[in-house]
Amino acid sequence: MDRWMAGDLNPTPRILMGPGPSNVNYRVYQAMFAPVIGYLDPQLLGYMDDISEMLRRVFQTKNRLTIAISATGSSGMEASFVNFVEPGDTVVVGVNGFFAERMTEVASRCRAKVIRIDQEWGKMVEPEKLIKALKEHPEAKICGVVHAETSTGVREPLEEIGAYCRKVDTLFLVDAVTSLGGCEVKVDDWGIDICYSCSQKGLSVPPGLAPITVSQKAMDVLRSRKTKVQSFYLDLLLLEKYWGEERVYHHTAPASMFYALREGLRIIFEEGLEERFQRHQTMGDRLKMELEGFGFKLFAQEGYRLPVLTSVYLPNRVEDAPTRKRLLDKYNIEIGGGLGQLKGKIWRIGLMGETCRLQNILQLMGALRDILG
Ligand SMILES: Cc1ncc(COP(=O)(O)O)c(C=O)c1O
Repeated sequence: MDRWMAGDLNPTPRILMGPGPSNVNYRVYQAMFAPVIGYLDPQLLGYMDDISEMLRRVFQTKNRLTIAISATGSSGMEASFVNFVEPGDTVVVGVNGFFAERMTEVASRCRAKVIRIDQEWGKMVEPEKLIKALKEHPEAKICGVVHAETSTGVREPLEEIGAYCRKVDTLFLVDAVTSLGGCEVKVDDWGIDICYSCSQKGLSVPPGLAPITVSQKAMDVLRSRKTKVQSFYLDLLLLEKYWGEERVYHHTAPASMFYALREGLRIIFEEGLEERFQRHQTMGDRLKMELEGFGFKLFAQEGYRLPVLTSVYLPNRVEDAPTRKRLLDKYNIEIGGGLGQLKGKIWRIGLMGETCRLQNILQLMGALRDILG
């Protein structure tokens, strides 16, 4: 008999200052320790109702369909396109980074006709350019943008685009994977029709869930599809039947992840949304000040910098991967390198949820001083 056995599981606790995941509060881990129960157990269904209600408050919406998909943030993106796009539909996407680029890839896999409004990475896509494209393409079914572009640290202004989409048939689709829980996301006020996020960044819960909210306008579009949604697992009408009153089995709910999200959301409301946004802003400003004081140059466009993710140019004398490896090995601090065309050019430093504390900023700066002198 093969007596091979994997070693003990013993991951080193890290300070997670990369682009996600962020650190997890011990109360969330404790919640995950609770006994697993069945996917139709009335207790679990009650917890799911709590999650929907708390998610509505974080998304600042009254949308009835506000749920958590049982998979990472990417499932929110996939669900958004696979549910609302039918082959041949036009989709306009503002492309200024890695994840916006991915949106175009997912949309084209759904056989959409994709119209790209490109912008240099590191800058926001001017809302006027998107609105101009929407005027030129009144048939556009979706206008998609990334609110917080994790590859660059840029925040996209949403209000003008949302106000325009409200007046026409186009649905406004927003990726809030890196913003939700750390930055204001006002789904109803900003006229957002479809908004998805993840569990592992601003909400400070382990990766594995994708909160999503859908407006009535978008639900009407979904219900009037000519063809069935191609994905069974991500079909929002089926998920609605499980999360809503009908309670029809769709998939085996990951109970432990639901406990985790519920506890993570409770922690958010104990702090208060406004207080939480303020903490992220204050700490984000402090980190930027410390980094500039040390000699780093900020990468993202001024005026559109995210509090939750700071991007800096890599100084010439600094080696990218070896320095980040030393930070991880010697100081247990994780930060992110550049993605795609920015690989080796920038660093991305996250301050999300539980990680967003002064002590972490000071530890990082101390470690950088030690390493870089
Ligand atoms: C803006 C954005 N969209 C989508 C994703 C994909 O999410 P996940 O990695 O949780 O699947 C990420 C991941 O970092 C992201 O930053």
